[in-house]
Amino acid sequence: MTIRRLKRTLALPVASLAAVLLGAGPTVAQLPPGALSTVPVPKPDLTGFVRDEAAAVALGKALFWDMQLGSDGVQSCGACHFHGGADNRLKNQVNPGTIHAATTFEVAKPNATLTAANFPLHKLANPEDRFSRVLFDADDVISSQSVTLAKFNDIIPGQAEENCTVTPDPIFNVGGVNVRRVQPRNVPTMINAIFTFRNFWDGRANAVFNGVDAFGPRNPNARVLQVQADGSVVPVAVAIAPASLASQAVPVLGSNFALACTGRTVSAGKSARSPRANSRSCSAPAGGVPDGTTKNSAGTLEVNRREARSAMTAASCTTS
Ligand code: HEC
Repeated sequence: MTIRRLKRTLALPVASLAAVLLGAGPTVAQLPPGALSTVPVPKPDLTGFVRDEAAAVALGKALFWDMQLGSDGVQSCGACHFHGGADNRLKNQVNPGTIHAATTFEVAKPNATLTAANFPLHKLANPEDRFSRVLFDADDVISSQSVTLAKFNDIIPGQAEENCTVTPDPIFNVGGVNVRRVQPRNVPTMINAIFTFRNFWDGRANAVFNGVDAFGPRNPNARVLQVQADGSVVPVAVAIAPASLASQAVPVLGSNFALACTGRTVSAGKSARSPRANSRSCSAPAGGVPDGTTKNSAGTLEVNRREARSAMTAASCTTS
């Protein structure tokens, strides 16, 4: 390319950029956004991390519905994200405001079933007038029940439930008997969450995944183990982006407000790989990616075990 042609080629973009910077861009008719299905899915470069993307997608779907992922052999991601990707259960769905250390339930006690009379949580004498007298106010959060409080010891090969020691729960109990703990925030739908730059209400699921937790580059000590040519492993720092969903999912695996007995870490992987007598999975909605890869009783992976999945009812996803 001659210098003159190069100049001509550059002239237009440079002029447009200048116009944009000066706020004097040409008036362009605003088109309505197209269907989301036409938008490319934002994905990181997974070379070096994932060998077979289609298999990874199928595994991800199976994992999402896998009840073995929960320390109790019941709780899956899908348990809370079941109804339009969110949660419509009514029993034991109240958190007293633990996010700011509140422990008193105002709306409903642990294990109670919510009714329409429990809403709204902030009741005004005249709903049309926000300055009218407050008749009722609560810092409780309507959310999603998870697992009961217990300390993780180990998995038990061949058994869905892990070996955990019950820890008395000072908040989520009825008469001193632990009930499932309830998340401190309402559950948003996970459908289309891949298009969200950062996930979670406070955006803490960083767009850059560090391989370890939600905090991306804000955790300078995050390291993953990389296998070397000679078979040895060395800790390395990684920055995978855009991958907010990975930053979101990894901490959930070890959370005692979501899936795990306290102290369970990467053993979630160990747990999910462990062969179980009765591999259980909630029924996943049809559509999207192929209907999943799951374990058979020998612990090996099988693709499209639709019959196993359809044998499960929706209720098998619901815990109480
Ligand atoms: C006990 C219920 C529960 C379980 C189990 C659970 N989630 Fe969630 N999920 C929540 C709640 C509550 C939030 C909101 C948390 C926050 O913002 O701090 C959430 C947030 C999310 C979001 C972010 C959506 C957004 O718009 O910010 C995604 C994606 C998601 N979960 C996927 C998963 C996956 C994948 C798993 C399994 C590994 C899982 N969830 C397990 C309750 C649950």
